[in-house]
Amino acid sequence: MANVKSIRDLDVADKTALVRVDYNVPFRPGSTDISDDSRIRASLPTLRHLQERGCRIIVCSHLGRPKGRVVESLRMAPASRRLSELLGTPVGQARQCVGEDEVTAAAASLAPGGVLALENLRFHPGEEGNDPEFARGLAALAEIYINDAFGAAHRAHASTAAVARLLPSAAGFLMERELQFLGDALDAPERPFAAVLGGAKVSDKIGVLENLIGKVDLLIIGGGMAATFIKAQGHSVGDSLVEDDRLAFARRIMDTDQRGYANILIPDDVIVAD
Ligand code: 3PG
Repeated sequence: MANVKSIRDLDVADKTALVRVDYNVPFRPGSTDISDDSRIRASLPTLRHLQERGCRIIVCSHLGRPKGRVVESLRMAPASRRLSELLGTPVGQARQCVGEDEVTAAAASLAPGGVLALENLRFHPGEEGNDPEFARGLAALAEIYINDAFGAAHRAHASTAAVARLLPSAAGFLMERELQFLGDALDAPERPFAAVLGGAKVSDKIGVLENLIGKVDLLIIGGGMAATFIKAQGHSVGDSLVEDDRLAFARRIMDTDQRGYANILIPDDVIVAD
């Protein structure tokens, strides 16, 4: 954590804080019922810390990949409702993220400890474009910026990158904890050292895979990305999610001669379901 300022080091008392969280939560199919609220729960220590210090809190997140357009099924309201239940305090829900009087007025009228949730950041093309103008709009709402969106920290987007240069900034408790674990694990690991990787996309994790493979004794690949590796081994994967343009990469990673070090475990049991 040497290079990352922590929320513990930032004077937050009575300030208005823009808090980037990762509420990219899963829903039960065809509904707005959140099937796993772990990401919302994981943000609570940071939000409670701010509330206890009289901070006015503006939370912002992306949800899904709406690609700069408003997609009704990807509004933040279900996540904000769940946040309100978990915090035990009201959470206001803005219909926009920036650029509207409504947002500015709602932010300005927050009471100490009050919470306002912005609308899905990715409804605005400036978010994924890391647009300085969009970042200025976000920064104008607050006095300090806290990044607790560990799951989105690998993206250079306006709410994770550009805005951090505009306000006094720090990592929230979740971000701090994850960086601490990662730092300890990678700098001085206890051996044998295994890494478990999942998620849908191999392409997002090529850098991580290449970096880890020289450091770990065992790489365990599961989740959605396993299908790409299973197909690369020559097996049929039906309609499973596969990144065909990453098969060569998967083969290279699994090729013992080229790899030479870490063992790799790919699932060899599968259940076929709709
Ligand atoms: C995630 O769920 O992995 C993060 O929220 C990042 O989402 P993204 O892959 O759509 O940027």
